[in-house]
Amino acid sequence: MAKTVEDRNVVRETTEAQIAVHWGEEELYHPPAKFIGQANLTDPDVNKRFSEENFPDCFQEYAEMLTWDKHWHTTLDTNEPPFWKWFVGGKLNVCYNCVDRHLAKYKNKAALICVPEPEGEAPIAITYQELFVRVNEMAALLRDFAGLKAGDRVTIHLPMLAELPITMLACARLGVIHSVVFGGFSGEACGTRVADSGSRVLITIDGYYRNGKMVDHKAGADIAVAVAAQEGHTVDKVLVWRRHPGQYASAWPMIEGRDFFVDEKLKEFSGKRVDPVSMDAEAPLFLMYTSGSTGKPKGCQHRTGGYLAYVTGTSKYIQDIHPEDVYWCMADIGWITGHSYIVYGPLALAATSVIYEGVPTYPDAGRTWRIAERLAVNIFHTSPTAIRMLRKAGVDEPTKYDIHFKHMTTVGEPIEPEVWRWYYNTVGKRQAVIVDTWWQTENGGFLCSTKPALDPMKPGSAGPGVPGIFPVIYDEMRQEVPAGSGKAGNICIRNPWPGIMQTIWNDHKRFVDVYYDKYCKNRNSKDWRDWPYFASDGAMLAADGYFRILGRVDDVINVAGHRLGTKEIESACLTVPEIAEAAVVPAVDEIKGRVPEVYICLRPGLKPSQEIVDKVTKAIETIIGKIARPKAIHIVPDMPKTRSGKLMRRVLSAITNRMNTGDITTLANPDIVEQVRELVQGKEPVVLQEGPEDLKQFGSQE
Ligand code: WTA
Repeated sequence: MAKTVEDRNVVRETTEAQIAVHWGEEELYHPPAKFIGQANLTDPDVNKRFSEENFPDCFQEYAEMLTWDKHWHTTLDTNEPPFWKWFVGGKLNVCYNCVDRHLAKYKNKAALICVPEPEGEAPIAITYQELFVRVNEMAALLRDFAGLKAGDRVTIHLPMLAELPITMLACARLGVIHSVVFGGFSGEACGTRVADSGSRVLITIDGYYRNGKMVDHKAGADIAVAVAAQEGHTVDKVLVWRRHPGQYASAWPMIEGRDFFVDEKLKEFSGKRVDPVSMDAEAPLFLMYTSGSTGKPKGCQHRTGGYLAYVTGTSKYIQDIHPEDVYWCMADIGWITGHSYIVYGPLALAATSVIYEGVPTYPDAGRTWRIAERLAVNIFHTSPTAIRMLRKAGVDEPTKYDIHFKHMTTVGEPIEPEVWRWYYNTVGKRQAVIVDTWWQTENGGFLCSTKPALDPMKPGSAGPGVPGIFPVIYDEMRQEVPAGSGKAGNICIRNPWPGIMQTIWNDHKRFVDVYYDKYCKNRNSKDWRDWPYFASDGAMLAADGYFRILGRVDDVINVAGHRLGTKEIESACLTVPEIAEAAVVPAVDEIKGRVPEVYICLRPGLKPSQEIVDKVTKAIETIIGKIARPKAIHIVPDMPKTRSGKLMRRVLSAITNRMNTGDITTLANPDIVEQVRELVQGKEPVVLQEGPEDLKQFGSQE
């Protein structure tokens, strides 16, 4: 007899019928009464308010959480599908909403608490008043010194320090479109994004602490400027923050006339105030580059009004943020999670948002929990990779600290039920509610999650669509896969929502092709019902309406919750002159979920050597960054290919992960499969019949 576990460990019995339906499913956990007692969203009527009949007007509830300069006249304009427009006619400023409007009530409350990695450096609290001052001064610098105005783009390559949100908010104050590139990306990766976005200004820092060492970060800016120049794009100014104002820590010289220290320049703008620029709801707020099926990362363009409304609404209802909460999301602001759920959502709600500079397990397994204890964090948000890492580093560590979370989030990858249970029992001490939030860079905010005070939790399942989101699973024949069928398919969202990206920067066609082409029912229709959004994730829908996300169906590898394109890594390999062909596949990794594994063929006449392998590793680290470092590099005599010459990554992935290679008789060179297998696995075949779902479907969209 299956059991469901409720708050206070009351065990309920499940009927045989339920067991049949839920066969192989996880038990349910119910939100603790204490959590429900204080939650923002406890009214079950929310499902009715956000029902399909009330779409799109239901989303006005989120827009009403903001302060508008001018009210919108049309909630959703569908005249140009799938380029939806939200809150049309409305005007507002994002920085005003995240900072200025809180001053009357909360000026002395911490907006940000920044925790330096060296434990000897005390955390720094920045109040809303102080944030207001710093953002205004930075906005003045950007406007009056860097010459930036609304609509210009700026690339920001900064680590997890207060300088990053301050710079973003200063841009938002002016209507300048920011493009934050994850600090761990290489200078080259930054440079291609600088060029694509057309940023004349690049903002960086001399260095920061990571794993006990000061990283020289300015190097990246010099490389980025050079790479952009190769692409025909000129950067006029590089603005360099300093980790310790007044002391330059980089070995890379400042370039006269191009590079400027921000801390020095800011002195000229001391006490300056800049009026927030009233922006159209549809004006772009930022770009965020992400990987897709092709080699070139796409700049997801997010709008001002709809985006802020969506992240504010979901921060309030799903993250359950109140102004008095201390909220810590461990993601990096350089990813979408950080934009939406460290900076914009929490600050729009006047929360206290924690920013940690370094590695969660530095100098030891207890660091994360010491930070949470010291700052009295009560909402904790992280990824399955971090949870796995923290568990491995110290399985009992959380019990040693006086930490009490009311709410915990997991995001970015599927979470194994066993890992979920550790999070729930040991980290949350059975007092915290967990939300498993599924969404993507393109989406602005959460798509699937339980409503924390209303829905039971199910380990490993994200949950139903969040309010106003209507997900559906389609098969390859465009048929809906019914709930409870036990079949996997492609998860799509049937309706538009305010947080969805506007387009791909400078590539409207690609936007339509990637997200709407596959399931569009009628290209000429202006009815949103004909334009489901294709997410590129495989998923299953249980009979209870909960979605379990299986992983990407395109050529994207989810490494530690970060998206890397197989084609991007392959292009990096091909920059090594010895390499004739490269194929990248996901390998299962105990901590990071998936990591890239590389197969290469050498040019004729060349012999395999460690030197070539090292060159390939170096090329990947330089062109993309250390996060893309492969688990292994295999030099093989040939690649498995179809008769039409298509490289069969699926077969290589099966070899890497000891899975069944499936039918290979239709390949042009079936014999190569055994040769490659032996090279990788050794003489004796080791084959698992079953592998993880995402790997079974890997390459299925090729
Ligand atoms: C995966 C991160 C399972 C998914 C916010 C998606 C998840 C990709 C979950 C987007 C989750 C995200 N459960 N898988 N809760 N959340 N994913 O753009 O494959 O960096 O397509 O956005 O991460 O990654 P991105």
